[in-house]
Amino acid sequence: MIEFGWGHPDQRLLPVEGLRRAADEALQQAGPAALAYGAEQGPGRLIEPLCARIGRIEGATPEPAQILITGGVSQALDLLCTLLARPGDVALVEAPVYHLALRILRDHALELVPVDADAAGLRPDALEQALAWVQRAGKRAPLLYCVPTFTNPTGRSLQVDRRPALVEIAARHGVLVLEDDVYRELWYDAPPPPPLVSYAPPGTVARLGSFSKILAPGLRLGWLQADAALVRRCMQGGLLDSGGGVNHFTAHVVAEYLRMELLDTHVASLRIAYRARRNALLEALTRYLPASCTFEAPGGGFFAWVRLPGHVDATALLPRAEAAGVSFLPGARFHSNGAGANYMRLAFSLLPVEEMEVGACELGRVLSAL
Ligand SMILES: Cc1ncc(COP(=O)(O)O)c(C=O)c1O
Repeated sequence: MIEFGWGHPDQRLLPVEGLRRAADEALQQAGPAALAYGAEQGPGRLIEPLCARIGRIEGATPEPAQILITGGVSQALDLLCTLLARPGDVALVEAPVYHLALRILRDHALELVPVDADAAGLRPDALEQALAWVQRAGKRAPLLYCVPTFTNPTGRSLQVDRRPALVEIAARHGVLVLEDDVYRELWYDAPPPPPLVSYAPPGTVARLGSFSKILAPGLRLGWLQADAALVRRCMQGGLLDSGGGVNHFTAHVVAEYLRMELLDTHVASLRIAYRARRNALLEALTRYLPASCTFEAPGGGFFAWVRLPGHVDATALLPRAEAAGVSFLPGARFHSNGAGANYMRLAFSLLPVEEMEVGACELGRVLSAL
């Protein structure tokens, strides 16, 4: 099976040797403290270099008090839902958006209300409309979940002049924006616009960062960047009170990886590898897909988003494609309301360049036979 479905990093690109050395160093440097329960916020040994690195890349350095070490975006999202939302509340969600975040929000019995995005990202007017609906319906909408930079599934980014507008609307309505920023560093043409958190009045945006895509997903490690009061609230919740900081030993390992100055080189090598894969996929799609299918070049992230002719339902197409040896995710998975039926998401992260052509050729064959 040529697997365009899984948006995972290619295991061949995971830095086994660097992390082995970092794990040795973590035990050497911190000794048993690396294996004990850790501080609720996460180890200072990681938080400090992480803040410095964000400052070096983005120009604005967060205070350590604005950072909480998490078990990745997924765990941070789950924790924020636990603390800030009640069953029956509305979660506003960018549409389309990362399908498994929708699952986490649903686990908390939240009502998902889509906010449409276009080629320039989430539409501020659509957010106003959704909030007006929430108000008329007499509901509470504490959260907006979005991926403003190289989003999953479209690869698009929220245009720079929409960023302050979006934050302003959210602030006016008392909605906390959960900015999932997992793909920010994986840019292939030009660095992305500043994160929403950099425009935000305190308390309006919580940015969810992760080492999953830039280092290794099995680490289950990420961070939350938010108002210090929200970080404190997370630290005081039952989860961290009981178990201490999340994935404490792993956090020490990543701290050493940063101290050894391995991360920037690794991310630079990932950009080269994924850029080549993106280019190979786009070339192959241009060559093999029927002209009735359209797509854009994603500037970063892991995905290409292909629009099929209006009458084609990607969910119905999938078994035929799989029978021909190629897989993808149907567009409807990325909507909370069944929209997006004539789209498919193709991940270019998992496959070596050589397989892109074979996969695109098979997809083209299946689509041309419709
Ligand atoms: C947009 C987005 N957010 C979050 C995740 C998962 O992040 P983590 O591994 O940090 O939980 C993914 C993984 O595919 C993703 O695409």
